[in-house]
Amino acid sequence: MANLLTSSAPDARPLPASSGPAPADATPVLRLVDVEKVYQTDTIETVALNRVNLVINRGEFVSVMGPSGCGKSTLLSLMGLLDEPTSGTIEVDGRAVRSYTDKELAGLRNLKIGFVFQSYHLINDLAVLDNVELPLLYRPGLSGKERRQRALAALDKVGLSARTTHFPSQLSGGQRQRVAIARALAGNPEIILADEPTGNLDSVMGEEIMDLLLGLNEREGVTIVMVTHDERQAMKTERVIRFFDGSQVG
Ligand SMILES: Nc1ncnc2c1ncn2[C@@H]1O[C@H](COP(=O)(O)OP(=O)(O)O)[C@@H](O)[C@H]1O
Ligand SMILES: [Mg+2]
Repeated sequence: MANLLTSSAPDARPLPASSGPAPADATPVLRLVDVEKVYQTDTIETVALNRVNLVINRGEFVSVMGPSGCGKSTLLSLMGLLDEPTSGTIEVDGRAVRSYTDKELAGLRNLKIGFVFQSYHLINDLAVLDNVELPLLYRPGLSGKERRQRALAALDKVGLSARTTHFPSQLSGGQRQRVAIARALAGNPEIILADEPTGNLDSVMGEEIMDLLLGLNEREGVTIVMVTHDERQAMKTERVIRFFDGSQVG
């Protein structure tokens, strides 16, 4: 993976002479310190995550496994800054999320992180190209032409250049998931968080999506955290994190 850790990364700094062999951008892209998430409803309190400590390094492809209800989606939504922990600290690029201003946080969510979900979350009334362009509407400073070019480039990366005017209902499940990946990619994210991206797909389409994600990680250096129930796919990633009942067990 060393080739993905380019020294031209914006936050790369020269190391002081005494700091040993760590790579120049060793600051983890994400770090969770004693993170707890408790959901409180009128009647019950659910500890979804229980003192989780983990580090995601730049350029890694990590899978997260564990039985239903063990906190995997909660973990991803915290990593994606869509929700806040009840206690503990989340750091992005070495800086505690709570120290970012709302505006900076919105920027991080929009620019740094792309989400991919099991059920694709596409808008059925919009053509493929419009679905992929949609998140770019919230990018200040991008012209309509630039948005279109980015969306087309992302669709090209996932092999769907010939389907830009189709609607989601006219596509297979695997193709829909590729559109969803293109939508995440159009924003040029450093991190993709994928929640059971192959969970609705048969094994052939699942393999296709997995190959696509592996290629993005290897060739483009995108950091990927993927929740999966599929042991075979998890084994293709560099590291598997296992959860049980809100705690990391491996
Ligand atoms: N918004 C919520 N309100 C209350 N409880 C929730 C909420 N989201 C998740 N939970 C509970 O938190 C636990 C972890 O859920 P989740 O992170 O979705 O698990 P997984 O993705 O591993 O299936 C479960 O017990 C679930 O019922
Ligand atoms: Mg889940």
